[in-house]
Amino acid sequence: MPGRVYITQPIPEPGPSLVKEVAELVEQNPDDRILSAEELRTKVAGRDAVLCLLTDPINESVLEAAEGCKVFANMAVGYNNVDVAAATKRGILVTNTPGVLTEATADIAWTLILGVARRAAEGDVEMRAGRFPGWGPMYMLGGDVSGRTLGLVGPGRIATAVAERAKGFRMPLLYHGRRPNPELDALGARQVPLDELLAESDFVSLHVPLTPETKHLIDARALSKMKPTAYLINTARGPVVDEKALVKALKSGQIAGAGLDVYEDEPKMAEGLADCSNTMLLPHLGSATVATRAAMSRIAGENLVAALQGKRPPNLVNPEAWKG
Ligand code: DGY
Repeated sequence: MPGRVYITQPIPEPGPSLVKEVAELVEQNPDDRILSAEELRTKVAGRDAVLCLLTDPINESVLEAAEGCKVFANMAVGYNNVDVAAATKRGILVTNTPGVLTEATADIAWTLILGVARRAAEGDVEMRAGRFPGWGPMYMLGGDVSGRTLGLVGPGRIATAVAERAKGFRMPLLYHGRRPNPELDALGARQVPLDELLAESDFVSLHVPLTPETKHLIDARALSKMKPTAYLINTARGPVVDEKALVKALKSGQIAGAGLDVYEDEPKMAEGLADCSNTMLLPHLGSATVATRAAMSRIAGENLVAALQGKRPPNLVNPEAWKG
């Protein structure tokens, strides 16, 4: 069995060990640094399998350089960093790591909901700066969470986990998506058109994958439909939101605030966003727990090993490329 593998960055165990058990040669980038497409081209050439990350630009040119490679096992549930159509055209399998980061990402969405509404990050900064003037009846008032309406855009696993937590806060639930989700329905959520969700929700939480259809789904027009007391929460992918339009909406008070874990051009932020105090800004921490990252590593490793062994990987995102 051929087994020349490249791993694009240091990752937690057990993925690397699983791969080393079967591969004849495993090379791993030793640096915590995102490789450019040009660097990746050199690294993936002549490999049978690549374990990559959501920050790796696996574009047409990288896939072209990976001629003969069986699989790109992405250690992420999202795979918008991979040109899946180009991989399929070349018969290269692409896999992801669904399921295992649902709970951790839902927890981060809730960190943002509570944090931005109750101004937790802002308050922390005030304390550390020694600016707390003492309790005041008008000091740092925020928005309520309990009993407010939560709107979920994209009714998948993570949205469902966010909705389950919302039941404890007695929140009416709305969701928008192409298909009904029986699990959300069972939680009492109502499926509505996007504009209705935007107009009625106190919290709009995004859970769609990034595709050409969802790029800038939340643009100036969508933001203008939201209540001035509403908050936008994004734990999905940055480009789902037009970040420049968001900065304008935050500065003008068109919406009350935003809790963001992802950005349009990571690791950068749109100009002006850092100055908006009505935000809680996290550095893409959705899946960042020790156990979750280990589970993602394991699944990515298992997908890669399966492909190397000529078996169908469990989490194949382009089944059309599978020749059996
Ligand atoms: C994913 O896996 O797509 C997440 O964004 C990682 O945090």
